[in-house]
Amino acid sequence: MHEKMLIKGAKVLNGIIDVQGAKNATLPIMAASILLKGQTLTLENVPDLYDIQTMANLLRDLGADVKFDNHFMVISVPDVLNSEAPAELVRKMRASSLVLGPLVARNGKAVLPLPGGCVLGSRPLDFHLKGLAKMGATIDLNHGAIYATAGRLKGCRISLDFPSVGATENLMMAATLAEGETYIENAALEPEIINLADVLRSMGAVITGDGTNVIKIIGQDRLCSAKGEIIPDRIEAATYLLAGVITKGTVTVRGIDAKYMDHILAKLIEAKVSVNITDNEITASWNKSLKGVSVKTMPHPGFPTDTQPQLMALLTLASGTSVINESVFDSRLLHVNEFKKMGAKIELQENVAIVTGVARLLGATVQASNLRAGAALILMGLAAEGETTVCDLHHVWRGYENLVGKFLSLGADITLMD
Ligand code: UD1
Repeated sequence: MHEKMLIKGAKVLNGIIDVQGAKNATLPIMAASILLKGQTLTLENVPDLYDIQTMANLLRDLGADVKFDNHFMVISVPDVLNSEAPAELVRKMRASSLVLGPLVARNGKAVLPLPGGCVLGSRPLDFHLKGLAKMGATIDLNHGAIYATAGRLKGCRISLDFPSVGATENLMMAATLAEGETYIENAALEPEIINLADVLRSMGAVITGDGTNVIKIIGQDRLCSAKGEIIPDRIEAATYLLAGVITKGTVTVRGIDAKYMDHILAKLIEAKVSVNITDNEITASWNKSLKGVSVKTMPHPGFPTDTQPQLMALLTLASGTSVINESVFDSRLLHVNEFKKMGAKIELQENVAIVTGVARLLGATVQASNLRAGAALILMGLAAEGETTVCDLHHVWRGYENLVGKFLSLGADITLMD
């Protein structure tokens, strides 16, 4: 795996990018296969990413057979699965925690070593665990692992303290095999939740209310083989649109409906980016009157935290002042120090970054601290004068398929280095 990229910046990027399937929809949908016994889940439009390989290996370790070729995945699940997720895979990726709910629902037991993933503050799993406990699971934390045991889970009313994406997904999956009705209140509204609910419904689950803040699940005795399709990745799409704008070019993303990206597009338009939307494509172009905007990251349909670093990269070059408030995660502004190495003018006050636009950025050696920060540093390097080296790229490979090929097709001058 390449860890460094050399970018010769200040090249105008223009062109069309086909959007990959959404990483954050694929991971829970793959975990949903655990609910099956002696059956198969077939998925289309699966992105080829490190995180997807990690989840595939995790499922294989549990006993499933996973075949993945050309964005097409077939997961065959035997009657019997192991209950213990392997520590070395779980530590690579926080989303491994998504196996907890389905595993305890189908096996009555799950062991999950405490997960790893992007460095984004403390990221506890308390909502997941409280919800499973309310459904009757016994939860113990021992030797760095979560032990969940249960007879058949029981439907109940769960009210989340915060509309956590992962907790909503874990509890929704667990509830599909529970006895009786489960209501998840203050549920997350992300499009990826609806994609998961759609696939669960095609597996025979009875779910209503996904996409609203109360999801109702009527538990079933058994689910069945199904086919599903992954929705497009709105975060990848936003990253390439911003790459076009920040380099003074025009990029079209193809294969995505603007309904997935309302808040992102509204912010770009507010910043005076030229945006053109058709049924299946979105185009964004640089505009010389680009201006700073204020943004607060929020759960969907608010501005997504996963696009905050990339938008901030653009705002370093927008005239005036931008105020960026990261309200979803603590410690998700680690990229600010790296941005400053490239000439950005940013003042940090806890979870708020105050960005004053500068006329130009200068190449530097910078380090990715997480997936989206890494993507944002690549955008900074593409816009900067001179050469930029972005290090610790393993974060980026977790979420962007064929990133180098896609940027080269837009006219970027980038080279991977060992
Ligand atoms: C998912 C996404 C991630 C995105 C995030 C927010 C996947 C695989 N990852 O992560 O890319 O940035 O949603 O849109 O889909 N929290 C708790 N206790 C919990 C669970 C969460 O305090 O039990 C807190 C987190 O620390 C964070 C906030 O809730 O501050 C939101 O987290 P959550 O929505 O759960 O994010 P993930 O599902 O981990």
